[in-house]
Amino acid sequence: MTMQAVNAMSYEEFLDVFGNIIEKCPLITAAVWSNHPFSSVNEMEECVYEFIDSLPSSGKEGILRCHPDLAGRELTSGSLTMESQQEQRQAGLTSLTSGERETLGLLNSQYKTKFGFPFVICAKMSDKYKIMEELCSRLQNDPSQELLKGIEEVKKICHLRVQELSRSVELTTKL
Ligand code: GUN
Repeated sequence: MTMQAVNAMSYEEFLDVFGNIIEKCPLITAAVWSNHPFSSVNEMEECVYEFIDSLPSSGKEGILRCHPDLAGRELTSGSLTMESQQEQRQAGLTSLTSGERETLGLLNSQYKTKFGFPFVICAKMSDKYKIMEELCSRLQNDPSQELLKGIEEVKKICHLRVQELSRSVELTTKL
């Protein structure tokens, strides 16, 4: 599929393919379709990032709140999105010891109590040790710093999801 094919997509098709590049936020994909045609995938991603940056803090917090806890309830119950499931598995979060699961659960809940949104990190660029280390360290941040950091991670996750989609829908190098 070429960029030309992406640009020819109806918004319904565009949403079907790119609807979860920001976890459980298809509204962002739907909004970004207004900017088509795109000259490249990078330009499409930039539109997503600009949209996110233009949101007030409550909107950015909302995006973070759409993310499930790492190694949380949804992982156990099998109700994660396909993308999140794959990312968490790749980071080793599906094979935690019960002690590790308990520690991560405690840290996640301390984090949410302090900031009012879940800890988001680009799990695919991490592993269970780094995730716990980062959680401990980011717990020390102040809320405005942490909002920025969380959104930075959301953008990294988005970038990898777009890359993955580009491969799986065989978007050519023309992208
Ligand atoms: N990093 C990559 N995917 C996810 C996710 O679904 N939730 C959180 N919290 N972090 C992630």
